[in-house]
Amino acid sequence: MASPVSEPEIHLAARRAAQLRAEIARHDTAYYVFDAPEVPDAEYDKLYSELVDIEARYPALVTPDSPTQRVSGAVAAGFQPVVHTVPMLSLNNGFTDQEVHAFDQRCAQALHKTVLEYACELKFDGLAVSLRYVDGVLMQAATRGDGARGEDATANIRTIRSIPLRLQSKSAPRLIDVRGEVVILKRDFERLNQRQRAAGQREFANPRNAAAGSVRQLGSNITAQRPLSFFAYGVGALEGADMPLTHHALLDWYLELGVPVCTQRAVVHGVAGLLDFFQSIKIQRDALPYEIDGVVYKLNWLEDQAQLGFVARAPRFALAHKFPAQEALSRLIAIEVNVGRTGAVTPVARLEPVLVGGATVTHATLHNEDEIRRKDIRIGD
Ligand code: IVH
Repeated sequence: MASPVSEPEIHLAARRAAQLRAEIARHDTAYYVFDAPEVPDAEYDKLYSELVDIEARYPALVTPDSPTQRVSGAVAAGFQPVVHTVPMLSLNNGFTDQEVHAFDQRCAQALHKTVLEYACELKFDGLAVSLRYVDGVLMQAATRGDGARGEDATANIRTIRSIPLRLQSKSAPRLIDVRGEVVILKRDFERLNQRQRAAGQREFANPRNAAAGSVRQLGSNITAQRPLSFFAYGVGALEGADMPLTHHALLDWYLELGVPVCTQRAVVHGVAGLLDFFQSIKIQRDALPYEIDGVVYKLNWLEDQAQLGFVARAPRFALAHKFPAQEALSRLIAIEVNVGRTGAVTPVARLEPVLVGGATVTHATLHNEDEIRRKDIRIGD
């Protein structure tokens, strides 16, 4: 017999899940298709984890179209689709030390080991790409897209100076997909926006959008003028060479082949090693030349990675340890009223634009009239 208490509870959960899905889908379109996010990553992550929690509590509420059931993204019109031989996956996120402990414990249990070896690196905030080298020559460059299918951006990617058009060394494999992130350095971002302003063109909200918007341009002459950089952090298909034994060795091999790898990386042991790396990067964050939103931990031995495998959209052997949401102060310019598709009315704060976590925030929800009264929110605050 159905419990009389749980009935309304599951209805509430179902309604909230539907709301979250709609909101996440909207943000996905803004982010992936238009390169123009409306909320900072931390806000998006909060919505996403709330949905993951609800679905974990009520598995019956999982729908095939839930964003948790696929990797978001779409192939924009104007680019040829590219099917990734090895899918480009996403990463699971953690925000707290407890989540890092839990990740380490899961890995240790699965591998029947006590102290594990990890490769630590930065979580770059840019655009993931896959570079295919055949006999050492760059033949194709694709964006991640939805992970299974991306966009052919070869002409644009070829304009990025730090990406070699030909691998150095005679030991280049017959075929290799080098994976990594196209980023724009902070100082280059500032300069680019100055140029955009001077030319009366739209400024970019953050370095990630500048990088993504520059690669996803129909016209490589425009991409060529953008100061883009690249860091490798993974591998897809590989033929005609042995896979290195560790992630660290893979990155060392890239350096030999002339592929850029970020110097901020380390091999550490156990959870203490992970948290030390996180702390040391957190302290350096502002001084780093590029925007990052956390660090990434990967089991260093590829054999261990293979044993752990994947779930849905992300590997079990890796974790993105993200920095906490950033706060910022702004002034309330006006209270606007937003009427939703269903007729629901929501008061929205128009704010003096403020940079938070790499995104320019101009609006914030005020939820409802009670909330405004309770907090005594006034224009000018
Ligand atoms: S590895 C199998 N390493 O984060 C794991 N991804 O949330 C595949 N990213 O699409 C990704 N820095 O754009 C990896 N050091 C790093 C990364 C990184 C940034 C991005 C990448 C990916 C997304 C996953």
